[in-house]
Amino acid sequence: KAAPVIAIDGPSASGKGTVAGRVAQALGYAYLDSGALYRLTALAAKQAGVDWADESSVAKLAAVLDVEFSGNDIRLNGTLVGDAIRTEEMSAGASKVAALPAVREALLFRQRAFNTLPGLVGDGRDMGSVIFPKAPLKVFLTASAEARAERRYKQLIEKGFSANLPDLLADLQQRDARDSQRSVAPLRQEADARLLDTTHLTIEQAVNQVLAWSREVS
Ligand code: C5P
Repeated sequence: KAAPVIAIDGPSASGKGTVAGRVAQALGYAYLDSGALYRLTALAAKQAGVDWADESSVAKLAAVLDVEFSGNDIRLNGTLVGDAIRTEEMSAGASKVAALPAVREALLFRQRAFNTLPGLVGDGRDMGSVIFPKAPLKVFLTASAEARAERRYKQLIEKGFSANLPDLLADLQQRDARDSQRSVAPLRQEADARLLDTTHLTIEQAVNQVLAWSREVS
């Protein structure tokens, strides 16, 4: 029997990552931050001097991406990545390389390999639609664009980056549009995904809702 998967998809800065990580911890499941793979691909391309629009070259990099996840640490080619993949530049780069079908194909099996016992929580845009279509629990986690921009703003300020709220909102809306309108694996709520709108929820409330649903399906 395949290990159970909780697929959590949703737009940028919706809190998916935090919620998915905490749900995984509570259940003792593995955690796949699929967005990190697209961010790492964008970073690897930049480091190699490869243009983000060069589909075949970026896909080749994605296929041989030397990454290691351990706890909160991510290593690319043996070097700690830290916040280098969390900048607005890499957010935009990730969203650009993620629109290339050959790049998504190159990252497909790497993502499925995270599905080990006792279970997996995966977060991204296509966890429920493409990577783990048979997941017993699919959650579409979202929040208003304003609430998401504000959360991202606070995160960046806390990390010591400078940030501008109107710019962040505009970037986020642009990224949402690119993620929703692309032809491969567009961001959308699957018919069998449960909607979790966190605009007015705390992280804890969101985590508890996902845990309650996971008890329902197991
Ligand atoms: O989730 P995160 O913001 O880290 O993802 C960065 C970008 O990677 C997204 O804007 C999206 O374009 C892309 N992505 C994707 N499919 C996933 C996860 C992320 O296309 N499963």
